[in-house]
Amino acid sequence: MRRIVIANQKGGVAKTTTAINLAAEIARKGKKVLLIDMDPQYSATSSIFANTSFEYTVYDVIVNKINIQEVIHYSDAFGIDVVPSDIGLSGAPMRIAEQIGRERILLHYTRRLQYDYLIIDAPPSLGLLTVNALMASSEIIVPICPEYFSLKGMKFLEAIIDNLRNGLESNIEIAGIVITRYRERIVTNEAKNAVKNYFGEKVFKTIVPENIKLEEAHSAHLPIYKYDKKSKGAEAYSLLTKEVMNGRIN
Ligand SMILES: Nc1ncnc2c1ncn2[C@@H]1O[C@H](COP(=O)(O)OP(=O)(O)OP(=O)(O)O)[C@@H](O)[C@H]1O
Ligand SMILES: [Mg+2]
Repeated sequence: MRRIVIANQKGGVAKTTTAINLAAEIARKGKKVLLIDMDPQYSATSSIFANTSFEYTVYDVIVNKINIQEVIHYSDAFGIDVVPSDIGLSGAPMRIAEQIGRERILLHYTRRLQYDYLIIDAPPSLGLLTVNALMASSEIIVPICPEYFSLKGMKFLEAIIDNLRNGLESNIEIAGIVITRYRERIVTNEAKNAVKNYFGEKVFKTIVPENIKLEEAHSAHLPIYKYDKKSKGAEAYSLLTKEVMNGRIN
């Protein structure tokens, strides 16, 4: 099972958009996919399931030790299994803060799952929820929006990853950096080049452009390939998925 977390502590860089569309595209290619929403803002959950409320969420897995199988819901529209989240997840860090092995709780409950791909949507923070998401993963994809790119922020994220690898025996690797919400402008072009200079071959060739259809697809509760398969957004996520599924980029 490939375990991929979509993370960046910066808000609004398209983590959720990338997580749900990547998951749906991978499923479309015949793979069995589980998406875990680890964000108390539950954007992935509401994009996929509108305002359905769930008896149990990922909070119950982490805090109340509810069997994860009871928290998995299939989305017909996306063709994937989902462990939903809700606002209550914001209380989880306080509840688990004192536990031994608090960083590995999600890993513990997902380790034996039988999927081809586990995709985790992380919140825009570097707290215990994100640490659990990172520890449960062996690969990280970092969406970066050139307009908000901060080298300092990236160094901070890399330092966290190093700490997990050295201190907590995580084997997580950066699978790739994906440039998202790209608008052709001089400043964004410069920022894009800065991202490429810094990360080199880690940057996926596919650049996801700013495309209103991606935003509309959230409100329509559909993956972009179903909402508008001819859109630039659909094309980009289809190409990105190929790069991700091929393992490495060159
Ligand atoms: N390529 C795109 N073109 C246009 N709008 C986009 C694109 N990608 C994402 N968006 C929109 O930008 C907003 C933020 O995207 P998204 O929720 O995916 O980011 P996020 O990194 O998950 O945010 P958060 O940090 O709050 O979890 C959403 O309204 C989404 O619809
Ligand atoms: Mg999000």
